[in-house]
Amino acid sequence: MPTFTFLEASRWQDYELLDSGDGLKLERFGKYTFARPESQAMWSRALPQSEWNNAHGVFVPSGEESGGHWDLKKRVDEQWEMTYPLPTQSNLRFNVMTTPGRHLGVFPEVASHWDFMADSIQKAGTKPNVLNLFGYTGLASLAAAAAGASVTHVDASKKSVSWARENQELSGLSDKPIRWIVEDALKYVQREAKRGVKYDGVILDPPKFGRGPKGEIWEVYKSLPSLLDDIRQCLSDNPLFVIVTVYAVRASAIHVAQAVDEMMKKYKGTLDSGELVTREKSANRLLSQAVYARWSSQ
Ligand SMILES: C[S@@+](CC[C@H](N)C(=O)[O-])C[C@H]1O[C@@H](n2cnc3c(N)ncnc32)[C@H](O)[C@@H]1O
Repeated sequence: MPTFTFLEASRWQDYELLDSGDGLKLERFGKYTFARPESQAMWSRALPQSEWNNAHGVFVPSGEESGGHWDLKKRVDEQWEMTYPLPTQSNLRFNVMTTPGRHLGVFPEVASHWDFMADSIQKAGTKPNVLNLFGYTGLASLAAAAAGASVTHVDASKKSVSWARENQELSGLSDKPIRWIVEDALKYVQREAKRGVKYDGVILDPPKFGRGPKGEIWEVYKSLPSLLDDIRQCLSDNPLFVIVTVYAVRASAIHVAQAVDEMMKKYKGTLDSGELVTREKSANRLLSQAVYARWSSQ
C-alpha cells in the first residue's frame, strides 16, 4: 500500500486561500481577490461578509460543469503577474487572468509537485527528459526546466501553449530546452512510444473531460488506463518520477495510486498518494482540491 499524505503547497507568497465555506472560496491571486464556487466547502464562512464584498471579482456559475461568467466588482487588469519561489532558487514568473472556465491560469495547489520535481531533478544531477502532459500554462514545465531538465510540454490548446511560452519568457527561461507541442496527449504518447522516445520523468494533470485539437475525446476514467500504459512504454530504464493528479471529484487517491502502482511494478521505487490541499488563512481549515499518486525512484 502506498503512504497516504495531505500535500500542502506552503511556499506561496502571491497566493492565499483567505476563507472558505457555504460552497465558496475566497482567494488572493497576487494583487486581486476573487470568490469562486467550491462545492466541497460544506462549512460556514469564517470571515465577515464585508471581507467577501471586498473581492475584486466573483465567478457566477451558469449551472453547467464549469461554465459561467466573472462579475468584476472593481477594476481588474486584463492580465497581471504572479511569482512562485521554487526551491531551486529561481522564481517562476507568470501571467494570470480571469478566464471563462472559472480558472485564472494557475492551479496553486499543484505547486507541491513543482517543488518535488525540481528537487528530484537537482538531486539526480543529470539532464533528465521530462514529459508534461495536459501542461496548461506551462508552470510544471518551467519548474522542471529551471531545475535542469529537458522538457516536452503537450497540450491540446494553442492558446494555453502560447500563454505557457509567454510565461517561459517572463520567467527568464527562454534559453532552456522546452519543446512546445499542441497535440492530443494520448495520440502524442502513442507516437512517442512507436518512435522509441524515452522519458525519465512524467507529470500529468488530466482534466475530467477534455478534447484534443482534432476533437479527440478525453474522459479520465476511460482514457487514463491506456494513457498510463502508453507512458510506461516511454519510460527510460531508470525513471526518476511519475506524478499523476486528478481533479475529478469522484476519483479516490487509492484508485489513482493503484493504477500507477500497476504501471510501475517492474521498477524499484516508492509510491505516495493522497490529496492536494490548501490551508485556509481565516480558520486554518484544509480544502482538498485534487487527489494524486507520485512514484519516485529516490
Ligand atoms: C491543466 S489540465 C486540468 C486542469 C485541472 N486539473 C482541471 O481538472 O480542471 C487542463 C489542460 O488539459 C488540456 N487538455 C484537455 N484535453 C486534452 C487532450 N485530449 N490532450 C491534451 N491536452 C488536453 C487543456 O487544453 C488544458 O490546458
